[in-house]
Amino acid sequence: MLEVKNITKAYGSGHTQVVALDDVSFTLGKGRLLAVLGPSGAGKTTLVSIIAGLLTPTAGEIVIGGRAIHLHTTAEAARFRRKNVGLVFQDNHLIPYLSARENLLLVPHLSGRVTHADRERADALLSDFGLEARATHRPSLLSGGERQRVAIARALMNEPAIMLVDEPTSSLDTERGTQVVELLRRQVHEREMTCIMVTHDPRMAAHADESLTLVDGRVASSEYTA
Ligand SMILES: Nc1ncnc2c1ncn2[C@@H]1O[C@H](COP(=O)(O)OP(=O)(O)O)[C@@H](O)[C@H]1O
Ligand SMILES: [Mg+2]
Repeated sequence: MLEVKNITKAYGSGHTQVVALDDVSFTLGKGRLLAVLGPSGAGKTTLVSIIAGLLTPTAGEIVIGGRAIHLHTTAEAARFRRKNVGLVFQDNHLIPYLSARENLLLVPHLSGRVTHADRERADALLSDFGLEARATHRPSLLSGGERQRVAIARALMNEPAIMLVDEPTSSLDTERGTQVVELLRRQVHEREMTCIMVTHDPRMAAHADESLTLVDGRVASSEYTA
């Protein structure tokens, strides 16, 4: 369960101050996929970064599974993220000189040792995402949709309770975008994760369980679609 309580974020100060989020509140349960919609500059990436513990809010609270994560120190936030949060950004941040499989195995590698179970998990995820035949390919040899699928599979390696995905389909056509969102949706339901998917495309939001629209840093509307 994710609780976002009265989150405000201002960048800078004085007459150059930008209020990116202004008193944003909502809750999201387990096994739910929320689409966050809104035009460019609405505050979507800022919101996701705060929930991930990458940015500190100016005011408000983020509570995940009963823990007030906005109070974490930088080191605590990093540890919490490694254990509990799966992150996928717009420009998927795959390592260009590693294969798809190696990009997945980087997750256990960074937190210690790669075990046999890690390799099995990576292969199972690649298969879930229809990427078996692409496992040994580097990102440059993959299509945009395949790269986003690798990025989402990699984010699932640490079995996150919270999944945050920023504009996963912005570089894809509608058909490939829909495939990526449907894969994400199935994983969210099967694994009972709490997932936020940022998008500026209302057609993608139609695949989510609920949606929320940000305009100028405020919640302009929210609805349940499933
Ligand atoms: N590091 C930053 N410093 C100053 N302003 C920022 C910074 N990051 C984002 N902003 C501003 O905050 C607002 C929200 O940005 P962002 O969260 O990236 O919106 P979105 O993801 O919806 O496009 C915008 O006006 C943007 O220019
Ligand atoms: Mg953004």
